[in-house]
Amino acid sequence: MQEIFDKANAVLAAINDAKPATAEELEAFRIQYLGSKNVLKDLFGAMAQLPGDRKKEYGQLMNTLKAAAEAKYEELKNSGGGDRKAKTEIPDLSAPGYSLPLGSRHPISIVKNKMIEIFARIGFTVAEGPEVEDDWHNFTALGTPKDHPARDMQDTFYISEDKHWLLRTHTSSVQVRMMETQKPPLRMIMPGRVYRNETISARAHCTFHQVEGLYIDENVSFADLKQAMYYFAQEMFGRDTQIRFRPSFFPFTEPSAEMDISCFICGGTGCAVCKHSGWVEIGGCGMVDPHVLENCKIDPAKYSGYAFGMGIERITMLKYQINDLRLFFENDVRLLKQFESAL
Ligand code: PHE
Repeated sequence: MQEIFDKANAVLAAINDAKPATAEELEAFRIQYLGSKNVLKDLFGAMAQLPGDRKKEYGQLMNTLKAAAEAKYEELKNSGGGDRKAKTEIPDLSAPGYSLPLGSRHPISIVKNKMIEIFARIGFTVAEGPEVEDDWHNFTALGTPKDHPARDMQDTFYISEDKHWLLRTHTSSVQVRMMETQKPPLRMIMPGRVYRNETISARAHCTFHQVEGLYIDENVSFADLKQAMYYFAQEMFGRDTQIRFRPSFFPFTEPSAEMDISCFICGGTGCAVCKHSGWVEIGGCGMVDPHVLENCKIDPAKYSGYAFGMGIERITMLKYQINDLRLFFENDVRLLKQFESAL
């Protein structure tokens, strides 16, 4: 009987004396005293051989043992993983460094930058504005007074009870800000994130990106708009690209049009991308409504202008044949890595 106690006390002394110096030794200590087949288990097993009146005493000794092993292990682990030897070693300063895993540019950013570059070549500068907008800049100044049905075109995230503050539904709000604060001629594009209360699907999201554009000067005509769009389409999608305009409606342009490009996949003969029509839609445009100019204190008798707006996601999906818009928001590097060469 005494033997059993002696054995347990010897293990306790061993635990207290143990001085694992390296991470390996610490791990060996853990396996020996705390692992799934640790020596304490054998000692516990010996309890059955003891008479009833000494079982309690032995049980307490077992608890002490276990606590001692745990305390020692924790202490050593926290003070540097037992690796005291390694700590004093001088690292090899001449060794080559570890290369860090690099991310890659998001396809939306790649296409946005390309659009900025294309428009910069014909004199467009970049203008930016707030994503939290007021009603005036997003709607009213753009010819969409309160209760006007055109507001339903863009389901809005309002962020104040009185519907004064909202998340901008388009970057046309930046056009208003620029027209209010700068004198014509104005020639700028407005890239940025916009928000619409839409059900998320492969083709729609509640947040996406636009590049809108604005050109205001004396004698700006629809022909100028067409030429700028033609130039953009060819630069973005290839020299053979054709464009066409379809009549449309926007509260802030008159006349308004929807712009299509000839399908750059099939060249117009019909394929899945253009749904066998030969054309794909890439954005809206039109001549800035004189009322909008007036709202922004620009004299419509002297100045005219055009505006256009395109979704960056849509252009990216077309250009790289990505069929689900939600992929852009998942940030899966396996997708993002595929665009490294497009930079
Ligand atoms: N603001 C419009 C939209 O978000 C796009 C557009 C801009 C249309 C400028 C015409 C002129 O849908």
